[in-house]
Amino acid sequence: MLSIKNIRNFAIIAHVDHGKSTLADRMLELTGTVSMREMQDQMLDSNPIERERGITIKLAPVRMIYKNFILNLIDTPGHVDFSYEVNRSLAACEGAILLVDATQGIQAQTLAHYHEAQKLGLTIIPVINKIDITTADISGTKKQISEILDFDLDSILLVSAKTGSGVPELLEEIIKKIPPPNTEYRTPNTRALIFNSNFDSHLGVIAWIRVVDGQIKTGDKLFLLATQSSASAIEVGVFGPAKSPTGILSEGEVGYVVTNLKDISQIQIGDTLSTQSSVPALPGYHPLNPVVFISFYPTDGAEISALRDALSKLRLEDSSFSYTPEFSPALGNGFRLGLLGLLHADIVEERLEREFGLSLIAAAPSVSYQVLTTDSKVQTISKAVDLPDPSQIKEIREPVIQADIFTPQDFVGPVMQTCQHHRGTLSNMFYLGNIVQLQYSLPLSELIHGFYDSLKSVSQGFATLNYELAGFQAGDLVKLDILIAGEIVDALSQIVPRSQSPYIARDLVERLKEIIPRSQYEIAIQAAIGSHVLARADIKAFRKDVLAKMSGGDQTRKDKLLKKQKKGKSRMKRVGKIDLPQEAFLSILKI
Ligand code: GTP
Repeated sequence: MLSIKNIRNFAIIAHVDHGKSTLADRMLELTGTVSMREMQDQMLDSNPIERERGITIKLAPVRMIYKNFILNLIDTPGHVDFSYEVNRSLAACEGAILLVDATQGIQAQTLAHYHEAQKLGLTIIPVINKIDITTADISGTKKQISEILDFDLDSILLVSAKTGSGVPELLEEIIKKIPPPNTEYRTPNTRALIFNSNFDSHLGVIAWIRVVDGQIKTGDKLFLLATQSSASAIEVGVFGPAKSPTGILSEGEVGYVVTNLKDISQIQIGDTLSTQSSVPALPGYHPLNPVVFISFYPTDGAEISALRDALSKLRLEDSSFSYTPEFSPALGNGFRLGLLGLLHADIVEERLEREFGLSLIAAAPSVSYQVLTTDSKVQTISKAVDLPDPSQIKEIREPVIQADIFTPQDFVGPVMQTCQHHRGTLSNMFYLGNIVQLQYSLPLSELIHGFYDSLKSVSQGFATLNYELAGFQAGDLVKLDILIAGEIVDALSQIVPRSQSPYIARDLVERLKEIIPRSQYEIAIQAAIGSHVLARADIKAFRKDVLAKMSGGDQTRKDKLLKKQKKGKSRMKRVGKIDLPQEAFLSILKI
């Protein structure tokens, strides 16, 4: 058995597409951990949605044996939606490889992950990747890394994850530079950090752990310190990368525990697993809170129970989203989901559609708001209809983010204009060679309303963004109502910034005017804040008699036409006196 001194726990941190997975593949190959053929199988095992998009969200950690050393590579998801998981995965390591693409240089997530690793006190090895590409700017990237991140030029390694060049030297460096797990502050307790988990339909809930103190053995009774629940260890082992039972995991080791639990929400990322019920938990845990809310409705109302089943099945594997039933007068029964971000929302929607064969309508995403009422209470809401009466509102607070934007110097002007347009406040600006780092405070709702797309378009795709949530901030926000024929249509109300309300109002009214068909009555469409009307359009009365032009003629043809008209009507939703086509709701809800 190898001693703790021969263990190295590390992660690879990089901006999206800088080559993290490719480098991991080369390491597995070099250490003989998996054969090329097996590796292919392993890759195919990963989620098809992740593979198609070229993003890795969840990859099991892997234990490699190299020259008498155990190298545990713990993967970290690259996307900001999963930054808490990144943080907890890094907390399970002593070191990190900071991988920078030689054709791209340092990008927003490079820096974000670097700071995270540094905060946790990890030993960081800077590595430049893709040196085989002819356009690689190796010396420029080296200079950037040494100037921005303060590394010695000599300490920066060069690799090609594609050809494998430089990777053996990198493995040597990992052994040399990254310290073994610390045994200095050992306590007599048994504590393991849960840095991730998964649900296996045969085995149940599996915790991915890093043992910090003591040992965890098959058969142990276990306590989850944050959620105050208990479990038992059915099987304990390591990832090779397939699960390989060892019966025991000792301090410093990384592996898995198959528990007897059936509900993944009982195993929270960041929680401490212990054999004792009353030891101090490891630091850094907090429960995951949804950030973005989206309502999903089945296209065919009859599929609502299929959607309910699908959601409960999906939650067995992913406890980071929440869902509650919801009714919309326009779209019928559905569910409102709370998610970690827009990418997470996209993935959940795609899985519901693909894995469960559902056809869904997704309403526009929204954020949660805190409403301070005149009686000094704070309510959290995520829908305009839930706002209390304006006379009771003292203040509406919205979530804000601290955004780090990296852009080539040429695009600084347009990028700053975009940020301003999206209510951003500049807090800092740094020139890093030919790229500029801009730090903005920005409402989260702007991010879900097109900020990222405009950032990409004004910078020709070059600007990169990373952000973290920075709490709630009072905003000048108002409820914008849509009135059709004098009645408020709840489903179309929105919370918007007052400064933008006239534009949003005009846009909504114009769009609705295009969609709502004429009827026997003149219909007024209004957008209003309280009793103050900001925009108005009228649809003139018109009697649509589909048979008018068919004088005489064949009765079956007439019947057919009437039937068609009736069918069209069934997709209409009655709102007060008039029928609105479903499309009208969708055009607004799906901004
Ligand atoms: P995420 O999973 O999104 O975080 O991406 P990643 O960092 O894992 O990147 P990945 O390994 O998927 O590599 C992105 C692309 O770069 C792929 O098309 C790789 O084939 C390519 N690539 C990675 N390393 C090299 C390299 O050293 N040389 C060349 N030429 N291409 C590389």
